[in-house]
Amino acid sequence: MGFFSKDIKSLDDLFVHTLQDIYYAEKQIEKSLPDMISKATNPQLKQGFEKHLDETKGHIQRVEQVFQMHGVPAKGVDCPAIDGIIEEADEVAGDVDDKQVLDAALIAAAQAVEHYEITRYGTLIEWAKQLGRDDCASVLKQNLEEEKATDKKLTELAESKVNLQAAQ
Ligand SMILES: [Fe+2]
Repeated sequence: MGFFSKDIKSLDDLFVHTLQDIYYAEKQIEKSLPDMISKATNPQLKQGFEKHLDETKGHIQRVEQVFQMHGVPAKGVDCPAIDGIIEEADEVAGDVDDKQVLDAALIAAAQAVEHYEITRYGTLIEWAKQLGRDDCASVLKQNLEEEKATDKKLTELAESKVNLQAAQ
């Protein structure tokens, strides 16, 4: 994201720019999840990705709602950070034949994505509050809570898979 863009002068500008960043990121995630669903072997992981695809569509709508509440048009701005995370995930997953190892790679990639979203939403919520927009903050908080819940489920799956492998 262009933090040094000359168009960003105020906290409000920064808030809108970061909203555009997460809007772009959510849309890229929406595009990449079907591929992750088809690659996942573990039924719980597959189901988790399917659920998160539905949630992601809801996240996009909520971000659009915040754009509207803030009186700016909904649009994305290129986010090389999320593109990099997704690109790296595709590269790693593309090289793995072992199904269990592939699932582990998918979990790791998904957690990197979730952590990116968690940091962005956390920042946006704080800035919204500072701008006196508690209404925007509470909508964004709903997305943050779902990202955190997804991350927690992924951690549980990663741990159960480790146990599974250790038992073999
Ligand atoms: Fe999301």
